[in-house]
Amino acid sequence: MTTPLKYDATAKWLHWLIGVIVIVMLVAGRTLEALPLDERTQIIMVHSGLGTLVLVLMIVRLAWRRSHTPPGPTAEMSVRQIRLSLWMHHGLYALFILQPLLGIAQAMFITDYEIVAFGLIDYSGLAENDAGLARTFHILHGLNSLILSLLVIGHILAAFYHHFLQKDDVMRRMLPFGKVES
Ligand code: HEM
Repeated sequence: MTTPLKYDATAKWLHWLIGVIVIVMLVAGRTLEALPLDERTQIIMVHSGLGTLVLVLMIVRLAWRRSHTPPGPTAEMSVRQIRLSLWMHHGLYALFILQPLLGIAQAMFITDYEIVAFGLIDYSGLAENDAGLARTFHILHGLNSLILSLLVIGHILAAFYHHFLQKDDVMRRMLPFGKVES
């Protein structure tokens, strides 16, 4: 298989769709705890639905990754940079999958209110309420969201570094209409 110069349309759609949803959820999620219970229940219906969508899209993305060769490192990248970007991407994949799974685990045991994603998937009905387990998964979901936020910020800064300082094609090859020099 030859290494392509840029990502195909499927990879770009998945990247930007997941990226936008997760960034909105990471920011909006921080406001959840301060809301009154009835308002929180309504918003969690959407939050849990979008989170479930992220999980499904991540599974599609993993399948894409296994069946396609992504563009490789550019000639300008040092061995250290290549290693770091590999770690970063593996970390992002793992935490993007872990975040909705921890949310679902929390939803299954939560005692304060019912969680029915998009009004369709009844997570609360999957297990007996358990305040201790709900608290544990709440802490893990919050902790993972903090680490994920740091990785996402690092990922965006790395893309800007490539584009504006290293002036290579790394960011352009993922942009919707990005033109890549051969
Ligand atoms: C990529 C997916 C997701 C992201 C980025 C995300 C992000 C967040 C964030 C940042 C918080 C606030 C954490 C805190 O302040 O400690 C939160 C809370 C929460 N999330 Fe998620 N979440 C995701 C998926 C899910 C899913 C799939 C579910 C359930 C099925 C879920 C259920 C919850 C619940 C129940 C809370 C606590 C709300 C409360 O305080 O009552 N999340 N989420």
